[in-house]
Amino acid sequence: MSKSSTLIMPEPHLYQASDNVLQNRTIVITGAGDGIGRCAALTFAAHGATVILVGKTIAKLESIYDEIEKAGYPQAAIYPLHLGGAVMKDYQDMHDTLAKEFGVIDGILHNASILGDRKPIAQTDSTEWQEVMHVNVNAPFMMTKALLPLLEQSQDASIIFTSSSVGRVGRAYWGPYAVSKFATEGLMQTLADELANTSNIRVNAINPGATNTAMRRTAYPAEIPTVNPLPDQIMPLYLYLMGIDSKGINAQSIDAQPK
Ligand SMILES: NC(=O)c1ccc[n+]([C@@H]2O[C@H](COP(=O)([O-])OP(=O)(O)OC[C@H]3O[C@@H](n4cnc5c(N)ncnc54)[C@H](OP(=O)(O)O)[C@@H]3O)[C@@H](O)[C@H]2O)c1
Repeated sequence: MSKSSTLIMPEPHLYQASDNVLQNRTIVITGAGDGIGRCAALTFAAHGATVILVGKTIAKLESIYDEIEKAGYPQAAIYPLHLGGAVMKDYQDMHDTLAKEFGVIDGILHNASILGDRKPIAQTDSTEWQEVMHVNVNAPFMMTKALLPLLEQSQDASIIFTSSSVGRVGRAYWGPYAVSKFATEGLMQTLADELANTSNIRVNAINPGATNTAMRRTAYPAEIPTVNPLPDQIMPLYLYLMGIDSKGINAQSIDAQPK
């Protein structure tokens, strides 16, 4: 099957991972301290991965590190990084540290994002626009660029970007967040096409769908949070795309929840 195949399993949200599907894989997760990223870090570790926890609130990263240790999963690593201020040199330093400590990276889950204020484009301040773009688009670009040499060392590497339904069809008042998710889809597709026939790296995106996290509760304050699934309910697709069973799947943007 071609690496840029459009074939995907019909219901990836029903995927059942084997217990050790991520054994011996080293995976970077951004925004690992909370919400979907926290759940993905725990889930990947429970399936055998060594997870590198990237985030800006060290106490949250330490808490999940401890949880992973207590559960007896492979020892995690903490890499504190504020994506809002990080520049290319910070990602080159990250490359150098991870090259020294691990040598090979088998996956990146680009999960961290900020919502920004929801208001009309006409009222959006340019600083605010750039802040959202920096965290949601520039940071994944710079991190991917810096870590590509380590992903190229892997026999089977997977890069997952995180999209949103507002990154596919624009919606009033979702401003830079929506535009950043369109850009994320573009970055994913462009990189996937570039790497399709020259590497062992596949590149896809997940649209989590409405999920009960702090971000969702901020975006929809009037909504009853429990109408939406918790992050652990959307993990099948994350495991599928990060593990060997999705080998050959490339350039896809897939919903984590059924329609
Ligand atoms: N939840 C949903 O319904 C939904 C729907 C569609 C798409 N998504 C996407 O899914 C992903 C995860 O969302 P979520 O709901 O889990 O969000 P969340 O609960 O707000 O968690 C976001 C995580 O990103 C981290 N983060 C934010 N800014 C950062 C920065 N500058 N540097 C480093 N880390 C930073 C946060 O760290 P701190 O905790 O330290 O601030 C937190 O760990 C996002 O890409 C979001 O756009 C979510």
